[in-house]
Amino acid sequence: MLQTPTYKLQDEVIVHDKHFRIKITSEEIQQRVRELAERISDDYRDKNPLFIGVLTGAAIFTVDLIMNIPYNCELSFLRVNSYLGTDSTGMVNSVIGLKEDITNRHVLIVEDIIDTGITAGHLIDDLRQKNPASLKIATALFKPKALKRNLTPDYVGFEVEPEFVIGYGLDYNGHGRNLKDIYVLKQE
Ligand code: IMP
Ligand code: MG
Repeated sequence: MLQTPTYKLQDEVIVHDKHFRIKITSEEIQQRVRELAERISDDYRDKNPLFIGVLTGAAIFTVDLIMNIPYNCELSFLRVNSYLGTDSTGMVNSVIGLKEDITNRHVLIVEDIIDTGITAGHLIDDLRQKNPASLKIATALFKPKALKRNLTPDYVGFEVEPEFVIGYGLDYNGHGRNLKDIYVLKQE
């Protein structure tokens, strides 16, 4: 039988070569998602909001969020391709896969995590050029101490220390996204 590389030992998981311990339970996550969705629902009422999830990590959070929106809204996804470039950060990001015309739309970008903020910053710069009616950002996790750009996410699930986390969409070398809880890397 094929063995999966993720092993669960109660409140710990092993993914590839690393040990992680539980940090935020799925019950806490779902409760927080409902709270955020309630605020977002109030803020976007009668605006036919367009939710844009950033693949791959934010797929799970995006779906959880919109299933808690009690009126009509639209859903799309995009992908940010990062490659070494020549701008001040050393990286250039290109946005791919967005088919919707966002001109005059109320757009909410949905991210899994804002770490340095470089990815989200590029995304905002890029989408703003397409003249949406409004552009805000929701993120499941936020590491304020790791931030390198002047950026304030509008809706934050949980603030975390600048530690490596997995689960609820976040991966370590491709694995761990399917974990319902959020885990943090254990220091050896
Ligand atoms: P940024 O540094 O804010 O640009 O984040 C870039 C990307 O790094 C995020 O979208 C995640 O895919 C990834 N990332 C940052 N911190 C973590 C983490 O703790 N666990 C897993 N992925 C992370
Ligand atoms: Mg990401």
